[in-house]
Amino acid sequence: MKRIVLGTVSAAAMISASFAAAEPSAEVLHYWTSGGEAKSVAVLQKEFADNGGTWTDMPVAGGGGDAAMTALRARVLSGNAPTAVQLKGPAIQEWYEEGVLADISNVAEAEGWADVLPDSIAGHMKCEGNWCAAPVNVHRVDWIWANADVLEANGVEMPTSWDEFNAAAEKLQAAGVIPLAHGGQSWQDATVFEAVALGILGPDGFRKAFVDLDEATLTSDEMKAVFDQMRTMRGYVDENFPGRDWNLATAMVMNGEAAFQIMGDWAKGEFLAAGKVPGEDFLCASTPGEGFLYNVDSFAMFDVDGDDKRQGQELLAKLIVGQNFQKVFNLNKGSIPARTDVALEEFDSCAHLSSEDMTASSEGGSLLPSYAHGMALRGAQAGAITDVVTSHFNSDMSSEDAVQQLLTAVQNSM
Ligand code: BGC
Repeated sequence: MKRIVLGTVSAAAMISASFAAAEPSAEVLHYWTSGGEAKSVAVLQKEFADNGGTWTDMPVAGGGGDAAMTALRARVLSGNAPTAVQLKGPAIQEWYEEGVLADISNVAEAEGWADVLPDSIAGHMKCEGNWCAAPVNVHRVDWIWANADVLEANGVEMPTSWDEFNAAAEKLQAAGVIPLAHGGQSWQDATVFEAVALGILGPDGFRKAFVDLDEATLTSDEMKAVFDQMRTMRGYVDENFPGRDWNLATAMVMNGEAAFQIMGDWAKGEFLAAGKVPGEDFLCASTPGEGFLYNVDSFAMFDVDGDDKRQGQELLAKLIVGQNFQKVFNLNKGSIPARTDVALEEFDSCAHLSSEDMTASSEGGSLLPSYAHGMALRGAQAGAITDVVTSHFNSDMSSEDAVQQLLTAVQNSM
């Protein structure tokens, strides 16, 4: 299997090319196209340019990255892979196994990544012992966002249990407010579902269901209760929800049309980009229940020809894990740095909560990979679960049928 090792080729090239040194360049495939996301990726574009790089942007719109992954497959199949790709979780190892990813261990070792990244994050960046991706951040998925004025005007507090959430939603609905801003796209359904599942199954149950694919947990009464809660929540979204982008749902909370959104903290990037202040304009809290669902964005470098691109890959990998980038990017993106040595003074209260909860859940064994955001399972298994979640949410399927379908879908995906 052909495997490119970054550093060796360009070092050799540098000897022969002292008169014609290649300028670093990179075509970068990503799906950061909303307001907050675009501000964030601009930080990387600027750092790359400031360091002599030429960036060719390949944005593929579509939250959660499904469309981007389809575009990536088409490019790789046609033998024309992008230089760097926003890729995460087990998909990194899946692409590595296809022999199309570069080994970036030389950069990782020169930059001492092992000393500044937690083991849980570093593990996702390795393929057969080699570094094969560079982490950007830690997003938390199990968040609930709210419009502060709407809650206050209706005498509603941030819910700390799903029963409290339902009671608040009923009250808001009676007052003519849309309780839950939601976009009916399968990845958004899966995002809400996994937050509810973490709350109802608890961290151990979540791990059994969505990491171990334990059949008894997938068909348990607790899992039926998760689907029951999804059915209840279907009644709290407005009728225009199908197909709505996640950032438009966030905008509904911002402008007071809706009270709550359940979404990862990229939603905070939207609030911040619109000039909203946490604790004043909007509120953040973890969704009811224990645990922390993490979602680490990262970039993998594809096997491409050309010394300019190889140098572009090295430069990008180095910048991405750099201390300054990790701070500035994450201030915009809503996430927290992947590096453990970035000071959080300039970060807001939601980021502090995220960082504290991440540490506590790591120590308590409840730090869990997000299945909905491709951190826990291979693509086929995650897709099989999401198909059932979406069909249930968009029909009158019973919870009993949903858990049976979940089991069958998972078995067929193995
Ligand atoms: C990614 C985020 C992105 C969000 C919406 C998530 O899966 O990790 O970086 O902002 O999807 O597209």
